Amino acid sequence: MLASNSKLNQPQLQVQLGRLSLPNPVLVASGTFGYAREMEQIVDLTRLGGIVPKTVTPQPRAGNNPWRTVETSSGLLNSIGLDNDGIEAFIQHHLPYLSEINSRLIVSIAAPDAESYASMAGQLEKAGGVDAIELNISCPNVSGGVDFGTNPEACQHVVSCVRNATDTPILAKLTPNVANIVAVAEGAKDGGADAVCLTNTLLGMAIDWRKRRPLLGNDMGGLSGPAIKPVSLRCVFQVSRAVDIPIIGIGGIASLDDVMQFLVAGATAIQIGTANYYDPTITMKILDELPSALAEIDAASVSEIVGTVISNKSQ
Ligand SMILES: Cc1cc2nc3c(=O)[nH]c(=O)nc-3n(C[C@H](O)[C@H](O)[C@H](O)COP(=O)(O)O)c2cc1C
Repeated sequence: MLASNSKLNQPQLQVQLGRLSLPNPVLVASGTFGYAREMEQIVDLTRLGGIVPKTVTPQPRAGNNPWRTVETSSGLLNSIGLDNDGIEAFIQHHLPYLSEINSRLIVSIAAPDAESYASMAGQLEKAGGVDAIELNISCPNVSGGVDFGTNPEACQHVVSCVRNATDTPILAKLTPNVANIVAVAEGAKDGGADAVCLTNTLLGMAIDWRKRRPLLGNDMGGLSGPAIKPVSLRCVFQVSRAVDIPIIGIGGIASLDDVMQFLVAGATAIQIGTANYYDPTITMKILDELPSALAEIDAASVSEIVGTVISNKSQ
């Protein structure tokens, strides 16, 4: 009796993002969790709110020249360049394993044009086992990678092409490297996205001044980790106030406090990226602690705190 009462008092962790429902709001970010198999000994994959494997492209890609990662103050620069074996190999070798995991599977795709995004979405729908498709229209490390994510019309176009090709829920992953993130999120909404993911990495660089050479083989790369958290949080706050679309917050999340900040800023769910590298069990720790943080503010569910931050300018 006591046990069932205490279960009844547990805050509800389930969240809804458009047509995608998740058992809890804690996901892992593309490119920082491999194809999940690599993590199965360390992480209870079935506890995750969802898994986003490394972005897959129409053709295999070897990625960029080394160095591909450089540590910075409170952050990580990467220029991996979407190294992957292509959609056919993904469907053959990774999808069977990923779709068997009792978790939500969100497949991240990137392509050179809207038609290729749409045809990949069709291939994935046909293969089955995919709960949602994340459109990576924000990769700073490949030529043209952010083009769809920096222009509201281009964003709307690519999302609507994919929308027409599949009934699978669509998440549009946007770049923070824009002057007006709200306009791009509007484009994603108008194109028919179920949710937007805010954000991918910030464009940055590091230089060896003695050699007068950039450290990354690609000269520039994407900055991630705690250094970018304030920027991603600001994007979530701005979009949440202006656009009626669910948000997945991403950027520098490394603790339960970070998660709670993103939720009250307006994110319905969050993804953890770089923090997986220095603490692969971080998602499990956050999931352990989340119910008590909700109880601390008398919240009966995650959804009731989403977007509840009050602007200091609102009086
Ligand atoms: C090494 C590395 C590889 C990444 N690869 C991808 C990728 O393939 N696709 C993608 O959408 N984002 C990729 N990202 C971006 C992350 O998914 C995430 O959006 C970003 O790192 C910000 O979150 P974080 O600060 O928690 O890492 C990558 C990030 C890192 C650090």
